[in-house]
Amino acid sequence: MVNVVGLGYIGLPTILMLGAHGVEVTGTDYNSELVDTLNHGRLSFKEEGLEALYQEAREHGVSFTTEYVEADVYIISVPTPYEEITKKVDASYVVSAVRSVLPVCAKGAVIVIESTISPGTIDTYIRPVIREYGLVIGEDVHLAHAPERIIPGNMIHELLNNDRTIGADDLIIGEKIKNIYSSFCQGTITVTSIRAAEMTKVVENTFRDINIAYANELARICHEQNLDVYEIIRIANQHPRVNILSPGPGVGGHCIPIDPWFLVGDFPSLTHVIKAAREVNDSMPEYVLSRVSEVMNECGIEDISRVGFYGLTYKADVDDVRDSPTLQMLSSLKRHLCGNRVKVYDPMVEKDIVPNQYHDLDIFLNAVDLVVILVDHREIKENMNKLEGKIIFDTRHICSMEGVYHL
Ligand SMILES: NC(=O)c1ccc[n+]([C@@H]2O[C@H](COP(=O)([O-])OP(=O)(O)OC[C@H]3O[C@@H](n4cnc5c(N)ncnc54)[C@H](O)[C@@H]3O)[C@@H](O)[C@H]2O)c1
Repeated sequence: MVNVVGLGYIGLPTILMLGAHGVEVTGTDYNSELVDTLNHGRLSFKEEGLEALYQEAREHGVSFTTEYVEADVYIISVPTPYEEITKKVDASYVVSAVRSVLPVCAKGAVIVIESTISPGTIDTYIRPVIREYGLVIGEDVHLAHAPERIIPGNMIHELLNNDRTIGADDLIIGEKIKNIYSSFCQGTITVTSIRAAEMTKVVENTFRDINIAYANELARICHEQNLDVYEIIRIANQHPRVNILSPGPGVGGHCIPIDPWFLVGDFPSLTHVIKAAREVNDSMPEYVLSRVSEVMNECGIEDISRVGFYGLTYKADVDDVRDSPTLQMLSSLKRHLCGNRVKVYDPMVEKDIVPNQYHDLDIFLNAVDLVVILVDHREIKENMNKLEGKIIFDTRHICSMEGVYHL
């Protein structure tokens, strides 16, 4: 029996995938509203293919509860933010989840931490908790780390096909956990040590952050030089060993803006590039705001309420708004007393989460003169004609109309 603890963006698809592939599994989350939602046949977020997977998993008897249940494998998938001041991982959610399963776990159970954690987190925070509880690691309880690589928007495909890493104290436990993930994962599963698995996951997201930062820095240099950054990148990428990513308005979500800080927090004197990349990406929303102001001046727009931000999520075609560049821009505007006046629209975000939020594309477009494209949702790509006659600042490079402002 497997108990998945934490049924958010990662835990939910994971439990559904396990259940749909015949693994006996129960999901636990301390958020009773979320558990009710799931038990009443509704999903807590939108993701292509998740509804069908949910139905399949339910037919296989998957259930959700606020209780921690007796199991021989626990998959812990709870948040891992960083501490604001030290930048080190905030392991408190993981520690608390582990504390909650210890009183009920079967003898010899494996606790798999799926949350992203900084290298050494299991040694520093988790082992002491288990010892304190009077259990012997390697006998009463085993530990493993199985970080997740999936990207919202393509979760189902990636759960099925991505390669994975599993860190464990010994090979037998590693293979046992590998077998569970192999119930659905067709990718290669590498078994290694816990510390190597912890480090690998953080290194992967840090790699992405640094590469995005490079593209963002180039965008700023090219703007100074009156050069088209997209043309420069397209030509540079013709080099057989160059692959520059696209610039954008910043990075959001629960991974890339967070995980590199773990390394900065733990190794402050060794992380110059990583820290600089974080700072570049974190400064992009402010940079975009300064460009919006330039465009407004150039086009004679004086009233900020005639400006519309298209997109609130941190990436295309998902409903996750955590740490999104648009939210960062809105909070910066709020600090400058005009945040409530910009108009905002996102087809994926049904609830009102910011002032002046619209829920109909046509009405939104009618209410503004300048449209700032901050997210490349499929909807806007398929409705480019509706932008005709508008002043457009496209931070995602999806609009090829004449006169569009780019990063
Ligand atoms: N979201 C992503 O794209 C992504 C991708 C790869 C890895 N990750 C990692 O996966 C982990 C989970 O991220 P997420 O996006 O799913 O977070 P989330 O906030 O969407 O979900 C976490 C869930 O855990 C629950 N929870 C917290 N503490 C609990 C406890 N003690 N007992 C029971 N439930 C508890 C919360 O109520 C919440 O529903 C993080 O470490 C994150 O870095 C996330």
